[in-house]
Amino acid sequence: PRVAVLAGGLSHERDVSLRSGRRVAEALRSTGAEVSVHDVDADLVPALRQLSPDVVWPVLHGASGEDGSVRDVVRMMGLRVLGTGPRASRVAWSKPIAKTVVAREGVATPDFATLPQSLFRELGAGAVLDMLVARLGLPLVVKPSRGGSALGVTLVERREDLPQAMIACFSYTDTALVERAVVGVEVAVSVLDTGDGPFALPPVEIVTDGPYDYDARYNAGRTRYFAPARLDEATTRAVQDVAVRAHEALGLERLSRTDLVVDPAGTPWFLEVNVAPGMTETSLLPQSAVAAGHGLGTLYRALVDAAVR
Ligand code: DAL
Ligand code: MG
Repeated sequence: PRVAVLAGGLSHERDVSLRSGRRVAEALRSTGAEVSVHDVDADLVPALRQLSPDVVWPVLHGASGEDGSVRDVVRMMGLRVLGTGPRASRVAWSKPIAKTVVAREGVATPDFATLPQSLFRELGAGAVLDMLVARLGLPLVVKPSRGGSALGVTLVERREDLPQAMIACFSYTDTALVERAVVGVEVAVSVLDTGDGPFALPPVEIVTDGPYDYDARYNAGRTRYFAPARLDEATTRAVQDVAVRAHEALGLERLSRTDLVVDPAGTPWFLEVNVAPGMTETSLLPQSAVAAGHGLGTLYRALVDAAVR
């Protein structure tokens, strides 16, 4: 098949996406697929029209990729797109909405508040932050309500550190998601569907000596990964079950990755889902696939074959 991989774009995660796209293209080429990589710029539509690929695989992180808008455009051109459709992408891209949908399935997710920047202007920052701490306590995690790669995310342990965290967050978006911080083991579970329904790969455990921030994610050696995660069998099944339920409840297609924390009692807490999970050398989905004994080329090819069938 002829595959057009979309990578880059204009989001904050442009560089990550270029790395992910390159890796996906290399892996697919090793299976004999004809793969071209396209940046998302004004030439995208004419380039795709000329190429007329069998399937378009948007390996685009961040806004316009994960919020479904580029998928809308490609679909409008009448081309097949690998992965989650535009509507479900939009829902999953909003962390508060995704949490609400998944919580309705009976999955635990940390208590949270959604704060538009305008609220701070209307009520004053002091009043808003006091209400927040009164309701959710401390420690808290402040994050952009839409975003990726931990950009603009801060763990806040002291009330006096909240204003700085809000400023960092609002430099990426105009709405903050503030959630109760759950202490525990951080794991990521990738879900794939090569045509026979969604199945979970082994969870990957993330161990950092500081925050799992942008640097810790993409610079090799900063973070230790355990794939599979050091969880007992029942807990492994429980986190995989949450990831598959999130995938299904949100109407995701083909591939996704759910990020969770397992508390000391063994309860998995849903944090978020990614419709275009990172595919770089240090990313979680590829590590998990390798841990399960899959060759990346074979696996990505199976996703492509299922998408063109
Ligand atoms: N947003 C990054 C790419 C990830 O979730 O892996
Ligand atoms: Mg994410």
